[in-house]
Amino acid sequence: MLLREALAERVTNLDKLTYAGNLENLRELNSDARYRFVRGDICDAALVDSLLAEEGPDAIVHFAAESHVDRSILSAQPVFETNLRGTFVMLEAARLHRTARFIHISTDEVYGSLAHPNRAEESFALRPSSPYSASKAGSDLLALSYFTTYGLPVIVTRSSNNYGPFQFPEKLIPMMIANALADQTLPIYGDGLQIREWLHVDDHCRAVVAILRGAKVGSIYNIGADEAMTNLEVVGRILKLVDKPRSLLKTVTDRPGHDRRYAISSEKIRAELGWRPSIRFDEGLSETVRWYRDNSGWTERVKTGQYKAYYEQQYGSRIG
Ligand code: TYD
Repeated sequence: MLLREALAERVTNLDKLTYAGNLENLRELNSDARYRFVRGDICDAALVDSLLAEEGPDAIVHFAAESHVDRSILSAQPVFETNLRGTFVMLEAARLHRTARFIHISTDEVYGSLAHPNRAEESFALRPSSPYSASKAGSDLLALSYFTTYGLPVIVTRSSNNYGPFQFPEKLIPMMIANALADQTLPIYGDGLQIREWLHVDDHCRAVVAILRGAKVGSIYNIGADEAMTNLEVVGRILKLVDKPRSLLKTVTDRPGHDRRYAISSEKIRAELGWRPSIRFDEGLSETVRWYRDNSGWTERVKTGQYKAYYEQQYGSRIG
């Protein structure tokens, strides 16, 4: 529904369909004449160039990224390739084709861990901890340099942790829901008292639409819903919603370099663009749990051999 609201005249979706990509997620758009799907890699400069020549888009929204911290710790190569080199290819193509807007989608993780009660504003120093967040911080800076140097109309967004339907079950919320529904162990890294802020994916998309319509070029916008809580609290709520016992929880060896607390101020997007989150975490989480319960076939289909191999590598010795 939200995708339909955002569709202007045409949208071309370039996606490599790596492990987390899934055409099934966008099935409802297949019959929409304004929508075109292209399978391809943002690192493929010839492909990106030909697409921009053909389509002449008014705006590029650069969502494409390898986005999982744990995978970036197991191997930093894919985050380097897609997040840094891929962003470079997209920026170069946008510069050559004089694209009128380039929205670079980033993350609050670039600010690193913040001690209470600090909240990162857009001007805060970047202190990324993982190969993933370092790749995003690097690509943010590269994107902004294209504004300063070449005048490319770049805008950088930094959102807090997303959740909602269709999220690949490697991230905390979908993994814990899927495991709990299947009566499997819920692995909590370290003491589980790390703090994250949760933003429903639909609210994130609405923020991106507001930015496309009215943001100032050369700017950075944090996007957060101010719903902060510990991982243990999130997982406790999930257990209640699916009516499963706390004995499924297991504290396991911590993630190396694990950031303790993310916190951002999103005063700027609220004041300048009038955006506000519309979905409370309680409501969004129970709707998300319902979605995973109703779509168990989807979860089963995305848990391929590749997923099982990753799960074993990441959790096998942790869970024992
Ligand atoms: P994640 O969804 O990977 O997002 P990010 O690392 O980008 O914030 O993890 C959210 C939090 O949940 C983070 O503090 C790590 C923690 N976590 C676990 O405790 N166990 C897990 O199995 C996973 C995937 C995450």
